[in-house]
This record gives sequence, C-alpha cells and structure tokens, in this order.
Amino acid sequence: MRIIIMGPPGVGKGTEAELLVKHYQIPHISTGNIFRELFTHEDSEIGKIAKSYIDRGELVPDDITNQIVCQRLSESDVQKGFLFDGYPRNIEQAKALDRFLEEKNWKLDAVINLTAKTDLIIRRLSGRRVCEHCGAVYHVENKKPKIDGICNQCGGKLIQREDDLEKTVKRRLRIYTEQTKPVVGYYEQSGSIIHVDGGRSINDTHHDIMKVLGE
Ligand code: AP5
Repeated sequence: MRIIIMGPPGVGKGTEAELLVKHYQIPHISTGNIFRELFTHEDSEIGKIAKSYIDRGELVPDDITNQIVCQRLSESDVQKGFLFDGYPRNIEQAKALDRFLEEKNWKLDAVINLTAKTDLIIRRLSGRRVCEHCGAVYHVENKKPKIDGICNQCGGKLIQREDDLEKTVKRRLRIYTEQTKPVVGYYEQSGSIIHVDGGRSINDTHHDIMKVLGE
C-alpha cells in the first residue's frame, strides 16, 4: 500500500497515520518527524537549517526536503509500501514525488485529505503535547497520558512544540492555504484524492478512512 495523508497542520495526520501504518505494516514517512529527529538527536547541519525554518512556521526549502525523501525511498523497507505524512507540501514537491515514483515504476494507491474547521485545528494544536524523548503525541483533553506530563511509552517529559505557539500556528495555517492547498487540486486532477472529515473523534476518523480504503 502506498498512501499519502495530507491536510492542514493539527488536523490529525500524524495520529491517523500511526493507526494506518500499524494496520498495513508499512513505514510511516513523516518529513516533520525526520527533521525533528535530525535537530533533536544529531548534530546535523541539515537539522540546524530545518529548525530555523520550522521554528518560524515556514517550509524547509524544497532541495533539502526532496533530497531527504529521495534518500528515504532508496531504503529497503519501502519496497512493501509506505505512508507519507506532511509530504508533498507544495506543487514542486508533488512533481518531485511523481518523478521519484516514476523512476521506480510505482503508483500511489490513495491520497487521503483530512479536513477540519480552523477553530478546531487551533484547539488541537494548542493542547498538543509531545514526548521530548520519543516524540509520542498527546493532547491535554483528547488524548491524555496516564500520568500528567509523562509519556506512557518511555517515561519522557511531555512538552509543547515550539511551532505550536499561537503566532507560529497562524503563520503555518497561512502557508498551508498558500502553498499546500494547491496540492489538493493537483491530486484532484488525477482523481486519486479522497476527502475525509478529520473533525470527528480519532476512532471515527480512522473508521471512515478504512471504509474509503475498502477495508
Ligand atoms: P509537521 O510535523 O508535518 O507538522 P504539520 O503538518 O504542521 O502537522 P502537525 O504535526 O502539526 O499536525 P498533525 O496533522 O500531524 O496532527 P496530530 O496528529 O499531531 O511539520 C512541521 C514543520 O516541518 C512544518 O511547519 C515545516 O516547517 C517542516 N516540514 C515538514 N514537512 C515539510 C515538507 N514536506 N516541506 C517543507 N517543510 C516541511 O494532532 C494534533 C493534536 O490533535 C494532537 O494533540 C492529537 O492528539 C490531537 N488529535 C488528533 N486527531 C484528533 C481527533 N480526531 N480528535 C481529537 N483530537 C485529535
């Protein structure tokens, strides 16, 4: 299965992606997670550059992002399929992905576009907490950890992402409208996109996605 999950920041892409990759047993390729991994755990030049863009809520330049994706697609585990979360994020990246897939003679099975109202998205982002150690995602109301402020999976401390602060969230939403929304139109033209209401509960949204994927 080769899937893309897209939608505005905070709509629940990462949360739904986790359930899908578990079901299909495929790798979860989140460009946001790859960048955070690079700047959190490694002394990487690319990580430092990416952080400077991410903290401002701007997109990391295409040459860096496409290079990272191309490299990831050359690893052996993607032979069985993959799920992209947060890529492609503009038309240039969508065209680059088309080229990468064509070179391998691969086709996408589905592009899932999650939608939700802006006020709900803002509530989700302002309440999101992530484990500073393993990156697991929680929410102060919708997905609470067993012990307040502590990750269920590794016992790490839960923190707020730098780019979830209010003024950065507004910029991310603006950039989504200007640069990423046109990608929805790009996939609409090829008839491969499926729109799913991401404003429902985590399980209801998952159920809707599985239904449209024919499961
Ligand atoms: P990235 O990490 O991809 O962030 P994003 O797209 O802005 O998406 P988020 O991670 O904020 O939200 P999400 O939709 O995954 O929601 P989540 O499931 O966590 O990118 C970060 C930055 O990296 C970008 O701004 C950019 O700078 C850079 N970058 C990444 N990819 C790039 C690219 N291709 N090109 C250039 N730059 C790139 O859910 C949010 C919260 O809501 C959580 O707390 C969750 O528990 C809760 N929640 C989720 N679903 C539900 C539900 N159904 N009901 C109730 N609560 C829910």
